[in-house]
Amino acid sequence: MGMTKRHPLMVANHKMNLHHLEVIQYLQKLTYRLQPEDTERVEVVIAPAFTNLRTAGLLIETDRLPFGLGAQHVHWSEKGAFTGEVSPLMLARLHTQYVIIGHSERRQHFGETDELVNRRIKAVLSQAQHPFDKRISEDGELPTLQPILCVGETWEQREQGETDQVVSEMLYRGLAKLDTEQLHTVVVAYEPVWAIGTGRSAQPEQAAEVMIRIRKVLAELGSDETAEHTRLLYGGSVNPGNIKDFMVKEAIDGALVGGASLDPDKFAAVIRYWV
Ligand code: PGA
Repeated sequence: MGMTKRHPLMVANHKMNLHHLEVIQYLQKLTYRLQPEDTERVEVVIAPAFTNLRTAGLLIETDRLPFGLGAQHVHWSEKGAFTGEVSPLMLARLHTQYVIIGHSERRQHFGETDELVNRRIKAVLSQAQHPFDKRISEDGELPTLQPILCVGETWEQREQGETDQVVSEMLYRGLAKLDTEQLHTVVVAYEPVWAIGTGRSAQPEQAAEVMIRIRKVLAELGSDETAEHTRLLYGGSVNPGNIKDFMVKEAIDGALVGGASLDPDKFAAVIRYWV
C-alpha cells in the first residue's frame, strides 16, 4: 500500500450550530480566507444543519464557491410516514454530495446502532446507483451521495485494549452487504469518542495505527484496491495547531472538524494545513 494519491478532504461538521443567515456569512468569510489553489489541493465540504442546506447550496451554486455540501444525518427510506426525518432523495435534490452517518453523538444520544447505520448507507448507495426522480431534475443528473461513516472507541474501550476490535466491528456491521463498487464511494472517519469536543485530540501516531487497521478491514470487505482508494479522515479536537501532524501521516487523508470548523479563520487554517 502507499502508492495511491488520495485527494485530501476536509469536512466541517457544524452540528446543531448556526442558523441560515449565519451560514451565509460563514461561507462568505471562509471564501475570503482561501485561495483557489487551496481548494484545488484540498476538497472542502460543509455539513450544516438540515435547515441550512438549501441556503448554503444556493450560495455555493450562484457564487460558484469551491465547497461541496454535506448533511449530518439521513433516513433509510425514499419517503413515507417518518415524522421529522429526511430522505436520501431530499438531500440529493439539494445537490448534497456527502452525508455523515453514525456520528458518535447520534450513537450516544439518539440510539444509533450499527444495523441502522448499515440501512442508511445501503439506502444512500442504492440511490447513488439508481438515481430515481431523474425526470423532474431540472439540471440533469443528481450528484452521487457519498456516506461518511464515523467509527471510534470510547476511552474505556481504549484502556481495555479493545480499540481495534470495536472499530473493526463497527466497520463489518456498518458496511455489511455492500459490493466492492459501493464500498468505493464510502469515506470513513475515525473519531475516538474521547477526543470529540474535549480539546484532547488523539496522538497522530495513535490515529494512524487505527487507520491502518481500518484499511485492513476494508481490504477484507472489498479488495486491496478498496483499502488503497478509500479516504480516511481523522476527527476529534482537530484545530489549526494540530492538523499538520495528522496530515503528514500517510494513512490520514483529511479531517472531520467540529468546533474549529465554526470559526472561518480556524477552518481556513485547517484547510491550509501545510502553511
Ligand atoms: P470536534 O468534533 O472537532 O469538536 O472535536 C469533531 C466531530 O464530532 O466530528
